[in-house]
Amino acid sequence: MKRIGILTSGGDTPGMNAAIRATLKAGLDKQMTVMGIYHGYQGLMEGRIKQMQYSDVHNIIDRGGTILRTARSEVFKTPEGLSRALQIISAYDIEGLIVIGGDGTFCGARALSEKGVPVVCIPGTIDNDMGYTDFTIGFDTAVNNVMHEISKIRDTMRAHDRVGVVEVMGRQCGDIALWAGITGPADITLLPEVDYPWEKAAQKLVENKLRGRLTSMVIIAEGAGKAVDFAKYIEENTDVEIKPVTLGYIQRGGNPSAQDRMLATKMCVHAVELLDENCGGRAVGIRDNKIIDVPLSDAIAAKDVFDHSLYNMSEMISKF
Ligand code: F6P
Repeated sequence: MKRIGILTSGGDTPGMNAAIRATLKAGLDKQMTVMGIYHGYQGLMEGRIKQMQYSDVHNIIDRGGTILRTARSEVFKTPEGLSRALQIISAYDIEGLIVIGGDGTFCGARALSEKGVPVVCIPGTIDNDMGYTDFTIGFDTAVNNVMHEISKIRDTMRAHDRVGVVEVMGRQCGDIALWAGITGPADITLLPEVDYPWEKAAQKLVENKLRGRLTSMVIIAEGAGKAVDFAKYIEENTDVEIKPVTLGYIQRGGNPSAQDRMLATKMCVHAVELLDENCGGRAVGIRDNKIIDVPLSDAIAAKDVFDHSLYNMSEMISKF
């Protein structure tokens, strides 16, 4: 394969630029032409495509976001959208594709793959919610971002003897909250995967206060509720003073961690090798610290299994 395309799709993640950079460099090393497709599948359908040069990826490894931009496209999911994308792929002589994103991105890739386009998928989502891989690109940076913000919030909470409740991203998956809860750390971690009654949380905050611990930290994943609602509940039912903070996009932006840069680089070099061997319909991941690739359909079907033992450890550690 001598001409490949690359796109980023769905929510951006820190490390996407490192992935684009590694793809271009590995492609050039194999005498490939690498076409940058802007704005995800939407841009693919619209032919927003440009041949990438070495200079395009200078000084981007440390930048969050994605130089190729990203989008979520409803039109691409329609038969007309798919057929338009196929026409563009053929018009630009693109022989294989590397796509970086989460679940929705992978489903789009499968549709192209079923029509005969060799596609290799790279998991890029801060949520870490893809069952076939231990980690996704962006997760480590997001956890580090949350950890650093918690430490700043704790300073001011401690100064006022207040409790902080910090809402982090994760609609279906509580991994960011769980990891930030252990490393932040938090006294209470509320996740979509675990039923933790707010009444029990209120009781714990009151007990903490009674035993002289005037500052506590609560982390709530967005899928488990809103920080403002939790704070309201606590203030209405206890004498604990609590302040809600919603971190929002702070956790998705910023410089990618070394771990994410490394993961993105290893995964994309592997993806280019797969395309070089004309091997498509694969998803690249990492398992037990080894880069792997699996059939794309298996990656999509793999259920994301919640790490109960990690949660139990978090509960034990936060007990004292
Ligand atoms: O999928 C990643 C994610 O960051 C989720 O955690 C979050 O709920 C969602 O994207 C929000 O994305 P946006 O605001 O871009 O729609």
